[in-house]
Amino acid sequence: MASDPYKVVSMIYDHMMHRLSYNEWAKYIIDIKTFYKNDAEKFLEIACGTGKLDKYLEKSFNDIVLLDISKSMLDCIPSSKKRVCANMTRQPFKSNFDFIYSTFDSINYITDEEEIVKYMGEIRNILSDDGIFTFDASLETNSIKNVKRLNRVNKFRGMEYKQVSKYEKDIRLHMNSFRMKLANGEIIEEVHTQKIYDFEFYFDAAERAGLHVLDCFEAFTFEDANEESERIQFIMKKL
Ligand SMILES: C[S@@+](CC[C@H](N)C(=O)[O-])C[C@H]1O[C@@H](n2cnc3c(N)ncnc32)[C@H](O)[C@@H]1O
Repeated sequence: MASDPYKVVSMIYDHMMHRLSYNEWAKYIIDIKTFYKNDAEKFLEIACGTGKLDKYLEKSFNDIVLLDISKSMLDCIPSSKKRVCANMTRQPFKSNFDFIYSTFDSINYITDEEEIVKYMGEIRNILSDDGIFTFDASLETNSIKNVKRLNRVNKFRGMEYKQVSKYEKDIRLHMNSFRMKLANGEIIEEVHTQKIYDFEFYFDAAERAGLHVLDCFEAFTFEDANEESERIQFIMKKL
């Protein structure tokens, strides 16, 4: 696996997210599974990061595989868990999953439209016939509204880090730059780039990939989303 896009941020990720309620996020994912009466036995979390969500889902979901492209993020998860280092657009699995989920706008890290279609096609290939694929995506309203709020400076375990967030509206790229000063004085940097797609794009991409959109909700609710929403939650199954 060539790239590790979260090598730097893996050192501070849990500190950066310490105010976020993964417990509530996990409840929402469980509610989705219940709502669609999904009788899942095999679960796959895509772009699982440091496994923060999994800490709450492992009690409810039995057989979970955790996938991420970043070895550094996966290394934060106990080795007793089933961890797979792979690119979400190139799924390595031969068997199927009944419930596939991904959180925190991870799909936006795919910055090319054709790669999104490829990703969805790969998911379709490993989704069981009655399986559910659910993920959230960040829309432009979110980038515009929250870009300044993401700028921050903080300290953690002797390290200092600075996050600078920038949204380039004309090319629809949202960039988060991280500059870290380690305890030994070394400076390291990393830039995360996310593509902000149109609301409608996801529907077209799903259809092209052979997936059917059952619903698209305002994230954390069961209310229909629209192009003005900040974060949207897709529920898909095979066409
Ligand atoms: C914002 S973090 C979200 C992590 C986790 N889902 C959470 O909610 O805390 C995005 C994650 O996506 C992963 N990622 C980015 N591009 C990826 C790719 N092409 N394939 C798999 N994982 C990817 C990163 O390594 C990172 O762990």
